[in-house]
Amino acid sequence: MNPRNQFANDPHLPRYHFTAPQGWLNDPNGLVHWQGEYHLFYQFNPHGAYWGAMHWGHAVSTDLVHWTDLPIALAPDMPYDRDGVFSGCTIIHDGKPVIMYTGVNSPHQLPCVAYADDNLRTFTKAAQNPVISAPPDNLVADFRDHSMWHDGEWWYQILGSGDGTHAVAPLFRSKDLLSWEYLGRMIEASDAINEQLYECPDFFASNNQHVFITSPLPMRRVIWMSGAFNGRKFTPSQRNMVDEGMSFYAPQSFSDAQGRRIMIGWCQEQRHDSSCRAAGWQGVMTLPRIIALDDAGALTFTVAPEVANLEGITITHGRDLTVSQAQTALAHVAGDSLVIHARIAAHGDAKTTLILRHDPHSGEQTTVTWDRGRNELVCDMAQSSRNQNTSRDCYRTTLHTSVADELELHIYVDHSIIEIYAGAYTVCTLRVYPTHAANRYQLVTSGDVSINELIVRHMA
Ligand code: FRU
Repeated sequence: MNPRNQFANDPHLPRYHFTAPQGWLNDPNGLVHWQGEYHLFYQFNPHGAYWGAMHWGHAVSTDLVHWTDLPIALAPDMPYDRDGVFSGCTIIHDGKPVIMYTGVNSPHQLPCVAYADDNLRTFTKAAQNPVISAPPDNLVADFRDHSMWHDGEWWYQILGSGDGTHAVAPLFRSKDLLSWEYLGRMIEASDAINEQLYECPDFFASNNQHVFITSPLPMRRVIWMSGAFNGRKFTPSQRNMVDEGMSFYAPQSFSDAQGRRIMIGWCQEQRHDSSCRAAGWQGVMTLPRIIALDDAGALTFTVAPEVANLEGITITHGRDLTVSQAQTALAHVAGDSLVIHARIAAHGDAKTTLILRHDPHSGEQTTVTWDRGRNELVCDMAQSSRNQNTSRDCYRTTLHTSVADELELHIYVDHSIIEIYAGAYTVCTLRVYPTHAANRYQLVTSGDVSINELIVRHMA
C-alpha cells in the first residue's frame, strides 16, 4: 500500500509536488540524471513528521515530474554517521555513480563516500569513511554538505562551513574520492554581511561565468552569486535572492543529459509544528526549475518544460482580453490544484492583483500584486488562513527591469504550496493553509491594464 493513501483527505497535502511518503522531508540530495532516470534523494526522517535521525529517502522519475518511491538509500547505521546521514551529492566516477554525504557523529560532521551499483538501487559505504578526518584551516565542526565537479584529472569539492565569524566554502581536490588535498577557502563571507555558516553550497559554470548558491545561516534565505572563478577562488560580482519566500531553503542543482541545469528546493511548512506532527507529513519539494545566467550575469528561472505534462483540463483560455472579460473567465475557475499562465500588460501606475485560494465565507485569500509604477511584486499571505498559527508574511520584491510593460506570470497552486514565477528573474514560493475550501479566483485592477493571455488548467 502506498503510505500516502492515509493522507488522501488531507486538504493541505500537495498532490503534484513531491513529498515524502510520510514523515519528515528536508533538503534535496544527490540529484542526478543517470541512464535515463532522474534520481531525487532527500533528507528523510521515516519515524515521524519531525526533524531527526536523518536518512536519505529516494525516488526516481523518467520525466522529472512523476516520481516513484524507492527504498531508503542511506541510513544512519555506522559509528561515523550514527547521528545522521546529512546532505550531499551524487557524481559519476569512472563510469559509476558515487555519493558524497556528511556523516554525523556529534559533534563531528565529516565527508563520507557511498558507492552505488550501476542502477543506483543499492549503496555500499566506503570502508575508509570518513574520507576527510577533520576540518582544516580553523574551520568549525559544522563542516557539511557537498558540491562537486570534475576538471582534468581531478575531482573538486566544496563544503559548507565557517571559521566562527565568517561563512566559508573550503575547496578540496582528489583523484580517487578517498584522499583529499585542501586548496584553501574558495569563498568566505565579507565582514559587511552577517553570514556565519554556508549551508548547502552549490557551484557550477553557466554562460562563461560561475554561480555559487548557498543557504547561509543565520539568515536562512537562499542566495545566488555570480562571478569569476580562477580555479581556487571565486570572486562574486553580483548576488540576489533565489526565491522570495521564507519557506524555500537548501536547494540543489544538477546538469542533466541535455545539459540543462535543474534546481529543486525544499519548502518548509509555515504552520505550527504540532499541526505538522498531527498531519503525519512535513516538507515539500518545489517543481524543477531550469536555471542559467543571462549575458549580464543574472540568474534566470524557468519552470522545467516537463511540468506541462501535469497540465490537464483547460478551465479557461483567452487572448487579448479586457479586464472585465478576464474577471468573468476567472469567476468560473474553482480548484486547489491548478496552474495560471498570464501575460498582463500595464502602463503608468497601474496595479493588478490576482486573488488566489479565495473563500467568500471566511474571507481567506492569498494575493499576488504587480505594482507597475514601482515595478514591484507583492505576495501577501496576511489573509491566507484563519488559523493564526500559519505564516502571515507579505513579500515585496523589485522586479527585473526587463518586465517593463508586460509581466508574464506562471502560478502553480497545489493545496498548501503556491509557486509564483514573475518574469524570468523572480520566483516567490508561498505556503498557505486555508481553513475553508478557498478554491475561488479573482482579478482586481486599477489603472491601464489589459490581459494579453490568460490560461487556467487543472493540474493532474
Ligand atoms: C540544511 C541542513 C544541511 C544539513 C541537513 C540536515 O537544511 O541543515 O546543512 O546537511 O539540513 O538535515
